[in-house]
Amino acid sequence: MCGIVGAVAKRNVVPILLQGLQRLEYRGYDSAGLVVVNQAKLERARSTGRVVELTQRSAAITGHLGIAHTRWATHGVPSERNAHPHMSDELIAVVHNGIIENYEELRTDLTAQGYVFTSDTDTEVIAHLVHSFYKKGASLLHATQSSLAKLIGAYAIGVVAANNPEQLICARKGSPLLLGIGENENFIASDMSALLAVTKNVVYLEEGDVAEIGIDTYRVFDAQGKAVQRQMHVSELTNDSVELGEYRHYMLKEIYEQPQALANTLEAVCNSQSLVPGIFGAEAAASFSQIDSILILACGTSHNSGLVARNWLEEIAGIPCNVEIASEYRYRVSVANPKTLVVTISQSGETADTLAALNHAKANGHQHTLAICNVPESAIIRQSKLRFLTRAGPEIGVASTKAFTTQLAGLFLLTLVLAKLRGKLTSKQEQQHLHDLRHLPSAVQAVLNLDTSISKLAEKFANKHHALFLGRGLHYPIALEGALKLKEISYIHAEAYPAGELKHGPLALVDKDMPVIAVAPNDTLLEKLKSNLQEVRARGGELFVFADANTRMQSSDGVSVMQMPEHAGFLSPILHTIPLQLLAYYVALQKGTDVDKPRNLAKSVTVE
Ligand code: AGP
Repeated sequence: MCGIVGAVAKRNVVPILLQGLQRLEYRGYDSAGLVVVNQAKLERARSTGRVVELTQRSAAITGHLGIAHTRWATHGVPSERNAHPHMSDELIAVVHNGIIENYEELRTDLTAQGYVFTSDTDTEVIAHLVHSFYKKGASLLHATQSSLAKLIGAYAIGVVAANNPEQLICARKGSPLLLGIGENENFIASDMSALLAVTKNVVYLEEGDVAEIGIDTYRVFDAQGKAVQRQMHVSELTNDSVELGEYRHYMLKEIYEQPQALANTLEAVCNSQSLVPGIFGAEAAASFSQIDSILILACGTSHNSGLVARNWLEEIAGIPCNVEIASEYRYRVSVANPKTLVVTISQSGETADTLAALNHAKANGHQHTLAICNVPESAIIRQSKLRFLTRAGPEIGVASTKAFTTQLAGLFLLTLVLAKLRGKLTSKQEQQHLHDLRHLPSAVQAVLNLDTSISKLAEKFANKHHALFLGRGLHYPIALEGALKLKEISYIHAEAYPAGELKHGPLALVDKDMPVIAVAPNDTLLEKLKSNLQEVRARGGELFVFADANTRMQSSDGVSVMQMPEHAGFLSPILHTIPLQLLAYYVALQKGTDVDKPRNLAKSVTVE
């Protein structure tokens, strides 16, 4: 989604803004722009191309104060006139992430006051509102605060004025924004990765905060306008973690980072002899002893990890579990059980639907909340009572890979901790699970060795338009995840079904042009799955089977079997995800799509 960078410094900030935007490209965007203050004038450049095009267009622009933006269209088509920054009367410039819900009403009022709108965006109302207060003599800070009081919706904004060359105002509500604190220069950004080249000192703004930033000062005010102190942190993000390095795409890099990401996520547990609730927060033991069920809320890939976890939680811990798509739950009238632990899962921790679902659950009386998330200080982490941080490192590719497998690792730990507390886990079983978890990173590494074979397999998909993914039980969500990966980066229409459902409808689609990908672990459902695959073969469907060793399945005419190195028991879904990620990646390469930034998609979906 949209990205914001802003800077005030003693040096020219244009290269800082452009480099920051480049770092934010992964979030997904369709236009970009920047504005700087130079000799009491606003100088703006915008482009509907990539940041590299904006760089060319801004070659002649310099200034010591500026704001920049990558836009992912919501109101108004992707076009130069709709690209940010938006200006009012050559005096005020604004960049904005989020959605202003009452913009039509505000636009009517402002038009009546004589303001002329030059874009179709909701953002432009903010520029004119700030202008309307500023021209009456309010300071830029007060003009912004008065404007924000009129807005309904979500925002992270940056504001500058042509006649105020050393002051940047910013604010957040519902969209992330942080301050980067440098030496004789300060910054704002929607994501820390944008600022890594200039500072590691970060101040996370809280909901409703407004900040006033100068070259060597900054002040933060809360939603009531009271001056507040917000703690400064030193970011642990490194430049390397957000660089491509030797890899052709971030997605491939992140697929290959999974052994290390899993090792990091499991570090505390694998180095200990037993499982304790404290890994989910200080209050976890108390919360877990009061709960009788689980409700998982998430979107997309994170929702798929929740579906896997439901199987673990019910089978191993014997605790009832429901999994709901956050965007549905938030608007559904549901019956709340105060003894339910509400688990939100999110890579970014800023997904608008998941955040709204969490707040909806809390408003419905749910008190036990746990976030499983990859971003410390994210909204979902801050708004949950308990937390588990996956330590996957920054995920840049829009298609989620290492975030998914580390979420699964966190959810498996949750299962084991609850099983232990509920008396469902013997000490011997606990030790066996810990042993399996310690082995997991090397088991994943072994699956990565299938890379070359999978890249060859992918050639068979180059001319396909549809694909069917099948799985059963614990691996049905892995089929869902495989289909999601394939569709989002290769644009092949892909569906996933529990294999037993095939004959209830989707079998009608099967012919020689419909490749069928089956996740076939060596578990109790294998024989049933084999019968389902016979049904496909009998209709001329071409089968691609990811089978464990010892499944006694062989490649034959129309059937390609890929042998996985081992069967990992309950952890098998994690291993079986890897070949499907690689398959999607290599099919996308065949198709020549933009792997890391697939069309129409954004990394972190911070609007509804
Ligand atoms: C996955 O490949 C997607 N890009 C998407 O489904 C993603 O998982 C979803 O938007 C949820 O994001 P979150 O984990 O950051 O909340």
